[in-house]
Amino acid sequence: MVKLSSQGSRDALWYKNAIFYELYVRAFHDSNGDGHGDLPGVIQKLDYLQALGVDCIWLLPIYPSPLRDDGYDIADYYSVLPEYGTLDDFRRLVEEVHRRGMRIITDLVLNHTSDQHPWFQAARADRNSPYRDYYVWSDDNQKYKEARIIFLDTETSNWTWDAQAGQYYWHRFYSSQPDLNYDNPAVRQEMLNVMRFWLDIGVDGFRADAVPYLYEREGTNCENLPETHAYLKEIRAYLDQHYPDRVLLAEANQWPKDVRQYFGDGDEFHMGFHFPVMPRIYMALRRGDNRSLEWILKRTPPIPENCQWCVFLRNHDELTLEMVTEEERQWMWQEYAPDPRMRLNLGIRRRLAPLLDNDRRKIELANSLLFSLPGSPIIYYGDEIGMGDNIWLFDRNGVRTPMQWLPEEKGGFSSAPVDAFYAPMIQGEPYGPQRVNVASQQAQPGSLLDFTRRLISLRKANPILGWGDFTWLDAGCHAVAAYLRSDGTERLLILNNLSGELQPVHVLIPGLETATTYDIFNSTPGPGVANYRLELSLAPYAYRWLRLE
Ligand code: GLC
Ligand code: CA
Repeated sequence: MVKLSSQGSRDALWYKNAIFYELYVRAFHDSNGDGHGDLPGVIQKLDYLQALGVDCIWLLPIYPSPLRDDGYDIADYYSVLPEYGTLDDFRRLVEEVHRRGMRIITDLVLNHTSDQHPWFQAARADRNSPYRDYYVWSDDNQKYKEARIIFLDTETSNWTWDAQAGQYYWHRFYSSQPDLNYDNPAVRQEMLNVMRFWLDIGVDGFRADAVPYLYEREGTNCENLPETHAYLKEIRAYLDQHYPDRVLLAEANQWPKDVRQYFGDGDEFHMGFHFPVMPRIYMALRRGDNRSLEWILKRTPPIPENCQWCVFLRNHDELTLEMVTEEERQWMWQEYAPDPRMRLNLGIRRRLAPLLDNDRRKIELANSLLFSLPGSPIIYYGDEIGMGDNIWLFDRNGVRTPMQWLPEEKGGFSSAPVDAFYAPMIQGEPYGPQRVNVASQQAQPGSLLDFTRRLISLRKANPILGWGDFTWLDAGCHAVAAYLRSDGTERLLILNNLSGELQPVHVLIPGLETATTYDIFNSTPGPGVANYRLELSLAPYAYRWLRLE
C-alpha cells in the first residue's frame, strides 16, 4: 500500500481533496446559436467555474453518437460530436482549463459501443469479420440468466436478436448498446488505445462508465468478476507507467464492500463514487434520523491511502435506489416521487432543489453533509444555483435542461429561438430563469451560489476534510448526524440537525477533556468542551462546523 510522506506525494494525490463539477456540454452554453451547448461555449464559461472554486470538471460523453443514450452510445471513440465542435475545440478547452489551474476528465465508456459503431456494423454483417468477436453473441438467449436488467423500464432481456447477424447479442443497457467482448485481447487493446489518445491530448483522467459489467461468466450475476478487476488493474498499470498524476474514477453502482474491490491494493481505481451513501442522505433528511447514514458509513470499509471516495447528491441519471432495500425503495418513492412520472427504472428523475422542497435550509444541510463526509465532493451542474427539473421530458432528460445564466426567457443559454433549443428551458415559478440564474445570484450576497462558493473555499481552507480520519459520534439523539474529522493534530467537529425541530445536542468527544471551539462557517467562537462533552442546541436543519482548539 502506498505510504504518504512528502508534500510531493500529496500533490500527486490532488484528487483526494478536489472539488469536482459534472458538466453536460449540450446543456451548458451554446456559442453558435444553434440551440445546442458546445465546447466553445464551455470555454466561455470557464471563468465562472474557476471563480466557483472548481478543481476538476467531468464532461459527459462528447463523442460522435446516434444519441440513443445521450452519448453513452459511442459511434467513434476518436472524435467529437459535430454539434459540440471539433477535436481542436477540445484541445483548446483542455488548454484553457489547465491555464486556469483546473483539471478535466472525460467519460470512458468501456463496456459497450453504439450499434452504429463501425465495429458492430462489421461484426453483424459478417461472421468471419475480425470484429465479430468484439461483441458477445449467442445462438439463443439463455445464457447468463442471473444478470439483472438495468434499464428495467425499457428492456426485457439482456439479449437482442440481430436478424442481419443471425444471432443474439449481449447488452447490459439499451439494446442499441451492444456490450464489448473483453475476452478478446483485441478489445482490451483497443480501449488502451482510446485512453492513450485522450491522455495525449491532455485530459487528466477518466470517469469510467459502468465498470462492473465488462466480463460475463455463467453461474454468476456477471458483475464485479475477477476478470474485470484484472483488466482494470491493467489499465491502471498502463496509466501509472505512462501518465502519472492522472486519475481513474469508477462508476460502480454497488455496495461499499464491492466498490472497495475497485480500489484494489491502491492499484486499480484512484476514486470510486460512493453510491449507497447518496440515497441515505435523503432518507436521513426526510426522516430526521441519522441511523441510515450511520449504518452505511459503518459498513464502508477503509480504502488505501492513495484512494478516495467521490460523494455526490445528484448526477445526470435518475437518483438511483439500487443500493437500498426493497422497503426503503418503496419509502423513498413514496416520499420523494409521489407522482409516478417522477420514477424511472429503480430511481427518481428529479433534481436536488425540487427533491428538497426548494428549502434553502435543507439544501444547505445536504451540502454540509456532502462537503464533510469522507470523499471528494462533486457538484452536478445547475445544482449550485438550485435549478429545477422537468419530469415530462423523456428518460433522464428532465435533469439535463439548459443551464440558467441570465434572468430572461432564454436564460442566457443560447441566442437560438427557444423552439430550436435541444430541450425546453425550465419555465415559470419557482425554477424558471427569471428566478433561478447565475447572474442574479452572483450579484446577491447570501444566494445559494454564494453559499456554494463559500462552502468550497471553506473546504479548501480545511484540507483535513479530504485527508482526515472520520469518526461517527453519538450526539445524544438520532436527529443529529455528528462526526469528527481529524488527522492527529487538527480536529473538526461536524454537527447536522437532520430534523425540522430544535435539537439539544450532547456530544462526547473522545480523548479531549477540555477545548475551546471555533465555528469556521460563521467565524465566531463556538461552545467549549468540558469534561469531554460539548453541548449546544441546533435550529431546524442547522449545521455547525466547529474546529476544536
Ligand atoms: C452509466 C451512465 C448512464 C448511462 C449508462 C450506460 O450508468 O451514467 O447515463 O446510460 O452508464 O452507458
Ligand atoms: Ca451550439
